[in-house]
Amino acid sequence: MSLLSLVIGYLLGSVSFSCLAGRLLKGIDIRQHGSGNAGATNTMRVLGKGPGITVLLLDVIKGMSAVWIGSYLSGGSSLFEVLAGISVIVGHNWPIFFGFRGGKGIATTIGVMATLAFFPALYAGIIAILSIVLTRYVSLGSLLFTALLPIFIWFMGLPNEILVLSLLLFVFAWFKHRSNIVKLLKGNENKLGAKKQL
Ligand code: G3P
Repeated sequence: MSLLSLVIGYLLGSVSFSCLAGRLLKGIDIRQHGSGNAGATNTMRVLGKGPGITVLLLDVIKGMSAVWIGSYLSGGSSLFEVLAGISVIVGHNWPIFFGFRGGKGIATTIGVMATLAFFPALYAGIIAILSIVLTRYVSLGSLLFTALLPIFIWFMGLPNEILVLSLLLFVFAWFKHRSNIVKLLKGNENKLGAKKQL
């Protein structure tokens, strides 16, 4: 039963709400527009605020649900909560239903980590939001969020499996943001609010 939560987590993660929003609302593949990413930021950029916020919330809930399912099916095993959290983010980033080309996993990471490490996620989230408000670079906020999580988790003495999870999610996020990092360094990263024409 516990292992089933990993399969469910991966399949749940593979439901790309961003791709679905593109298809259902405009008949487009969101990955052919804007930054090309199947995520909430690009949904907002290409389809507008309402769809972007909806995708953000659904992706967060997706991450939370996978952890809850992992917990339920394993009888509260923290190892399987963590593994279900990894599975849902792997599904989101490399979705089986969408040719293994998904998003960068940040909203889903927020859902997973808010469930497993609420206060570290809250503190890292506040700093990330502030950085986005100040710079209008969502990618910078995403990078900061995932880099700060392990630091807060370590300082607050959370269990080792949560620390290892946050380090793994940091590697996933920075790997997925490598083109954003190059653009940030060159100063030509997309800013929030700069809408792309379809
Ligand atoms: O969470 C994704 C965000 O950090 C960057 O998205 O579309 O600007 O590459 P995007």
